[in-house]
Amino acid sequence: MNNFATIITMQRGDMKFAYVQNDNVNYLELFDHFIEDEAHRQLLDPSDKPERFTYCINQNDTKYIFKIDGGVEHRLERQLIAKITGDFYFNLIYKLAKMSQDNCDIAYELYLVAYDQKTKRHYMIFNFIEGRSLTHDDMYTYREQIKHCIETLHRYDLVSNDIHGGNFILTPEGKIKVIDLTNSGFIWLTKANDAIELRDRFNIKIKVPLLAMAFKTFAHSFKRLSRKLRGKKD
Ligand SMILES: Nc1ncnc2c1ncn2[C@@H]1O[C@H](COP(=O)(O)OP(=O)(O)O)[C@@H](O)[C@H]1O
Ligand SMILES: [Mg+2]
Repeated sequence: MNNFATIITMQRGDMKFAYVQNDNVNYLELFDHFIEDEAHRQLLDPSDKPERFTYCINQNDTKYIFKIDGGVEHRLERQLIAKITGDFYFNLIYKLAKMSQDNCDIAYELYLVAYDQKTKRHYMIFNFIEGRSLTHDDMYTYREQIKHCIETLHRYDLVSNDIHGGNFILTPEGKIKVIDLTNSGFIWLTKANDAIELRDRFNIKIKVPLLAMAFKTFAHSFKRLSRKLRGKKD
């Protein structure tokens, strides 16, 4: 059983780890197994971002998602914010663990995070969620559940920051779960990105801090104007 109340942290050479304690599954061993055993990992999604890879692995009849994120933030202001707020994925494991402890199952579960200080790559192990991605039409059909999902995320101080059908899974029981949580910047501010996306693309309204909304609405309009002036498409 996963003991989400206990997150083990450790350093091994250049690698920093945080993982959920479990008497039956040692997530550190699972990580090592994945790294060594290239033959048994299945690349799920080549991704539009060259530095990200998502694999599915099957270990003792349990499927896991193994994700590698080699993205390095080059923008100075984002690097500064990351210094203030701490590593996003290491924060994520604690926030999702809190959610799991509360039996709040609107997102994936995160079992392990690793960071290679040399290559600057992050590695994550998630639970595999049976089901399928949402289509654009599904986003309208399941709008109430999507609204609930994002509002709940925000309550746990998490954001999607990339709202589209590919980042939601419809389970065989008809539940919607959100995956692929990212962030760069202050979370209270990024919540407004979710609100704007939901409002403009799917006509879903959620409440977020007024100041964040005003700031992001201004930033979005400014970006659009700047692109127009440079002759780029929206
Ligand atoms: N926990 C999960 N359970 C089941 N499928 C998943 C899970 N995580 C990712 N996937 C599948 O892999 C795809 C890519 O994963 P995602 O985290 O969205 O990566 P990317 O950053 O490349 O968008 C998803 O669209 C989904 O089909
Ligand atoms: Mg995605």
